[in-house]
Amino acid sequence: MKILIVYDSRSGNTEAMAHAVAKGVESEGVEVVIEKVDEVSVDELPGVDGVILGSPTYYGLPSAKIKEFIDASVKYHGKLDGKVGGAFASAGGTHTGAETTILALTEALLIHGMVIQGTSGLNHYGAASVGAPNEEESETCRKMGVRLASLVKKLHG
Ligand SMILES: Cc1cc2nc3c(=O)[nH]c(=O)nc-3n(C[C@H](O)[C@H](O)[C@H](O)COP(=O)(O)O)c2cc1C
Repeated sequence: MKILIVYDSRSGNTEAMAHAVAKGVESEGVEVVIEKVDEVSVDELPGVDGVILGSPTYYGLPSAKIKEFIDASVKYHGKLDGKVGGAFASAGGTHTGAETTILALTEALLIHGMVIQGTSGLNHYGAASVGAPNEEESETCRKMGVRLASLVKKLHG
């Protein structure tokens, strides 16, 4: 079982979140691959059981690079049904677009037919941070990784 985390990050905040999410995934015994969006190929998508996208918030939306990756993923449209999906975002403030960014990423994952799990705990839609993730935000990221890895095990184990 394997989860792919694809993120964009100019100043390292979303990257730090990606590593915290990965820790949670690993703690569940699920293999995790973390790739910066500049280096990843959509050809990696069919070989994984879960895909987690992370982006900085740019004008309330994911970055253009992440959108470009999503658009390129049309190559596998119809082939990713039933995989687990998730999204997280970093922003410059609170209530300044992290949730709309997460939801935009989630829309794309849903269109691929992926299974998305929210949470009744903190950050219902997915992990969010204001700038570099602090201890609490890193913990939210880690827990998100744990939850998604558990779901992968339930669905694909
Ligand atoms: C072009 C651009 C647009 C941005 N738009 C927003 C925004 O709408 N809302 C917000 O809270 N932060 C905005 N930010 C701030 C980034 O989302 C924030 O600094 C984030 O933590 C950067 O993540 P990174 O370190 O992974 O690159 C913007 C930054 C840039 C460069």
